Amino acid sequence: MCFEDINYGADGGLYAELVQNRDFEYTKGEGREAGWGPTYAWEVEGDGMSMDIETADPIHQNNRHYASLDVVKPGAALVNSGFDGIVLTKGEKYTVSFFARLSGGKQRHDGRSSAAIKLGLRDKNGRMLAEKKFKVSSGKWKQYSAVLRAGESADEAVLVVEPMTAGGYDVDMVSLFPERTFRGRKNGLRADLAQAIADIRPRFVRFPGGCVAHGQGLDNIYRWKNTIGPLYSRKPMNNLWGYHQTMGLGFFEYFQFCEDIGAEPLPVIAAGVPCQNTNAVQGELLGGGQQGGIPMDEMDEYIQDILDLVDYANADPRTNKWAKMRAESGHPAPFNLKYLGIGNEDQITDVFAERFKMIYEAVKKRHPEITVIGTVGPFYEGTDYEEGWRLADSLALPMVDEHYYNSPGWFIYNQDFYDRYDRNKSKVYLGEYAAHLPGRPNNVETALAEAVYLTSVERNGDVVSMASYAPLLAKKGHTQWNPDMIYFDNKEVTPTVGYYVQQLFASNSGDEYLPADVKTDNNRKDVRSRIASSVVRDGNTGDVIVKLVSMLPLEVNATINLPEGINDDSATLYVMSGNPSDKAVKPVESTISVSGKTIYKMPPYSLSVIRIKGGAK
Ligand code: AHR
Repeated sequence: MCFEDINYGADGGLYAELVQNRDFEYTKGEGREAGWGPTYAWEVEGDGMSMDIETADPIHQNNRHYASLDVVKPGAALVNSGFDGIVLTKGEKYTVSFFARLSGGKQRHDGRSSAAIKLGLRDKNGRMLAEKKFKVSSGKWKQYSAVLRAGESADEAVLVVEPMTAGGYDVDMVSLFPERTFRGRKNGLRADLAQAIADIRPRFVRFPGGCVAHGQGLDNIYRWKNTIGPLYSRKPMNNLWGYHQTMGLGFFEYFQFCEDIGAEPLPVIAAGVPCQNTNAVQGELLGGGQQGGIPMDEMDEYIQDILDLVDYANADPRTNKWAKMRAESGHPAPFNLKYLGIGNEDQITDVFAERFKMIYEAVKKRHPEITVIGTVGPFYEGTDYEEGWRLADSLALPMVDEHYYNSPGWFIYNQDFYDRYDRNKSKVYLGEYAAHLPGRPNNVETALAEAVYLTSVERNGDVVSMASYAPLLAKKGHTQWNPDMIYFDNKEVTPTVGYYVQQLFASNSGDEYLPADVKTDNNRKDVRSRIASSVVRDGNTGDVIVKLVSMLPLEVNATINLPEGINDDSATLYVMSGNPSDKAVKPVESTISVSGKTIYKMPPYSLSVIRIKGGAK
């Protein structure tokens, strides 16, 4: 599984925070929506109160902006509109929290040493659905929090911050979280979206990107250390995809999520260079394709950060300071990190190669137990692919990350792509792939082309160790990239046809490829390439799994000759089929009898998975 914070995948997406720009840290930036800045998503309603954004005395230097409210006459409020509104469910609990302090001296509060602020949730008709009054009594930053229960459901509610007393207030980190997050984690993930990912049963999760990992210029390289620890101390940053990352979903949360869904964590760290399409190098706009690198005199520190990440994930908290931070966040046990991606489809320049080698050698020396995954460019051919492989060969890398987004035809006609690979070279992680059609839909045609190709990936399991479709998530109305695997809005999660293909393959993977004897009743080459199959055995259960894909418009008879001893009159059959342009097709489950020789009718445009109970070896 490949998670990237693209298409509002993290803030406004998987990360369950309901307040947008809770930290007043939004900044203007290239490609960003007009009007973005520290007050984005906030508005002062009513008279008698003004808001300034200050930076003089923040809660933490990493989070410098805060709202300074001057209340001449109570009655006005500071209102947050969430991410396209806040969805509330009647009866559900929500934790509201904020940092505040009195400002401007006691006389600003009519001589009183305390004042009150009301926080509430209001629906679009102006009805308050829940509220709570807080006494703010200190001139020092202090966190306040309470649990609110929504009196009614609402789709487009807002959060209202209403000072009840005249005077000055500083406010920051205004947050609203549903209590019902995935697995009930604090600072957790949106339950329905996280569950949709868990339901795929991914063996691993790659994070935080994609291009987000290496960023838009050197200053925008994703630094994992900025994403851990108390939320107020994390360092927010522009997102290369044109929005903002609070880093609330940080490396601790990614590791925790992986553990919660039984997936291996696969963090990707920039190889000391920013995105190959970067147009900001050391603060200057140099145009697309230009690439700089972290200055050599900063590389030791950068490499140390990478070594520290392995310690953060795996070391003993009693002896390692990064592991101690992990324990303080609530996870004393190691996260058992095994893989580390270095680089993301970078241009393989000398600048890249020099830095990559330094990082790789350092990780190999200090952590030989970690499988380092290199990168071989954004395509299945071309200079970066060739140079990337040359570098991998020269370093004898354990694994490389390949990316390619191609037409369905490419996937159909290149089923022998990995058959041609040298078995003695680095293993392959197919980290990003998807079938792209004009208009970029995710439909039966693209999904079946991916299924056809995945049968060849299974056949080449001795070369391709892992594969992940990309991108994973996309918020409707906020997409920078199509197609994606799961679309969502604030209320609903809409898995695509491609999602179900991924789910069927991931939940029916095997660890032994059985030489398949699947014959079809038409052997013309052009017809044959639109039909694919694979047979694997799952070592844990002993189940034998047959996958059959047809991209033909008519029913096709497939004769399946199973290895001796495999008979089952109640094998499970999952079938998904539809017209090539259909976008809402799901697998249907039933049972089927199979014997040594089974004639199976493949429906037009279909993926069929037959799972035969284990025991037979
Ligand atoms: O998956 C979307 C983007 O495609 C990724 O960020 C990048 O690695 C690739 O170009």
